[in-house]
Amino acid sequence: MVQNKQNIVLTRKWPASVEQALVSAAAPHGVVQLREPDSAMSRDELANALRTADVLCATVTDQIDEELLKQPECRTKLIANFGVGVNHIDLAAAQAAGISISNTPGVLTEATAEIALTLLLSAARRTGEGERLVRSGGWSGWYPTHMLSTQVTGKKLGIIGMGRIGLDLARKAHHGLGMKIFYHNRSALPSEVAASLGAERLTLEELLTRSDFVSLNCPATPETRHLINAETLALMQAHCILINTARGDVVDEMALCEALEKKQIAAAGLDVYEQEPVLTPGLLALDNVVLLPHMGSGTTQTREAMGQCAMRNVIAWLRGEPLPNAVA
Ligand code: DGY
Repeated sequence: MVQNKQNIVLTRKWPASVEQALVSAAAPHGVVQLREPDSAMSRDELANALRTADVLCATVTDQIDEELLKQPECRTKLIANFGVGVNHIDLAAAQAAGISISNTPGVLTEATAEIALTLLLSAARRTGEGERLVRSGGWSGWYPTHMLSTQVTGKKLGIIGMGRIGLDLARKAHHGLGMKIFYHNRSALPSEVAASLGAERLTLEELLTRSDFVSLNCPATPETRHLINAETLALMQAHCILINTARGDVVDEMALCEALEKKQIAAAGLDVYEQEPVLTPGLLALDNVVLLPHMGSGTTQTREAMGQCAMRNVIAWLRGEPLPNAVA
């Protein structure tokens, strides 16, 4: 059991129901400081939060780097991230400072796979362009050659990163759309799972050269930074469509922009960007890219589940119990 009243600080607003649940559950152990403005903390506010919070409940918009973690007055002992990806936190610096990290795996699998599939279908069927046409008042009616697009059913989907989200996407795409599944992952799927999906494990190069669609579902790590770059884009077929719901860092956005401009690949669907919310110049002007505002996990159900999951970690820490979702 952690002694004395602990300070739990939220860096962002959470769904109201989970804020209330956290306030009640934490009451015997500490005080929760909710975030009033629905905006990210400035760097100064974040530095101050780390000096005042025993537990900091952070999100992807908080860049928690070595400088912040090394400040001598840093009081934080647990960063409970509201989200599964933790590439915005310097994990080595946190470990050196004796700070534990938890995340929210498992609860956002389906919602994120749904957005990957949405982007895949939108980019292939040109729904963004179609909607822009109707809204602009420029639609002149049906004709046989109007806005022809790419059929998805039965095509080959290459999934890079076969974790929970990649696997759920594979199931949805295979069982729902009859897609042939290729994947590239450090470990192989259990043979019965691979067999149920007819999934083939390929090298990165094989996957890029053979897929009609490539979906990025791997974590952002130093190894996956700019995994998709001018060289790897050049391996993809001209009709290939790239989907990214993982992290912006995995794609060299300048190189992607150039490949889309030159029609080196057919299209892309992006939910995440290198410098969110700033986009690489040129991206907005392209019609062959569908752009979403990092909304993969953004269903009410999932955001509440993420809050509940973050809360379980906070409460476990306050009680001196092992973290259910410790990030190694
Ligand atoms: C996640 O959980 O990683 C989402 O992208 C939000 O951070």
